Amino acid sequence: MQTVQTIDELKQIIEANKNKTIGLVPTMGYLHEGHQALLNRARKENDFVVASIFVNPAQFGPNEDLDRYPRDIERDLKIATEAGVDLIFNPTPEEMYPFESGITIQVGELSTKLCGESRPGHFDGVLKVITKLFNLVQPTKVYFGQKDAQQLAIVETFVHAYNFPVQVVRVQTVREADGLAKSSRNVFLSEVERAEAIHIYKALTLATENWKQTKNVDEAIAVGKAHIEEHTSGKIDYFEVVTYPLLQQVSEHADQLLFATAVFYEKARLIDNILVDIKEV
Ligand code: PAF
Repeated sequence: MQTVQTIDELKQIIEANKNKTIGLVPTMGYLHEGHQALLNRARKENDFVVASIFVNPAQFGPNEDLDRYPRDIERDLKIATEAGVDLIFNPTPEEMYPFESGITIQVGELSTKLCGESRPGHFDGVLKVITKLFNLVQPTKVYFGQKDAQQLAIVETFVHAYNFPVQVVRVQTVREADGLAKSSRNVFLSEVERAEAIHIYKALTLATENWKQTKNVDEAIAVGKAHIEEHTSGKIDYFEVVTYPLLQQVSEHADQLLFATAVFYEKARLIDNILVDIKEV
């Protein structure tokens, strides 16, 4: 496995592999089993696998955890090597953003809901780095986890709307044995919070089960919220049911519904979701 930090080195290696299928796994590092699932899938489906490790300042708000975001590049490189990654791109912020162009990408409507509501500008920053990575790596396929469902919906819509020549591959959320979604931020939970956090997924499961029986979105949301409030000290940021991928109010025309929640703990904000295929209910 090669590791490069500069755009010039990255471009040279991509040029040398341009006749191959290239799988890209964009990450912010501190890799866990969720990332491993993305890397394994990319390894299976492509001749050449590139993973980026870059804690992207553009997607953090002024009061968010950019400085505290967990980092462990040595461990990441070991995990990536074991997953059979061919190339790691690990640039500095200065390498990635050498000058301020003043030109921005604005997600608009899709970023005003769910996580976007309490993280203004976050998804604009995600698309900023993703656009650069697409242009630099020119991947055949790019891999995203379903845990970040709003991010996935925005990237899928962006790629579709602007004809990026890349296929977005959705990879299912990887969970701990007790159901908690794997996340780099789980390390910030206290022992008590970690034990309580299993109720996030339980609440989503109860809400989806309720909806399947009643088809009543408000009741399903109330059931989910009540479960979180009863079983955890975390504060609910949102608990919503929206259509997927447009994240709109539920209507009978929708094919998929997204049950999504975000919960604040002392030092971490956790997100999770369940996607329900309406036709299969
Ligand atoms: O999901 C993430 O880790 C980040 O948002 C991503 C896609 C790597 C962009 O920085």
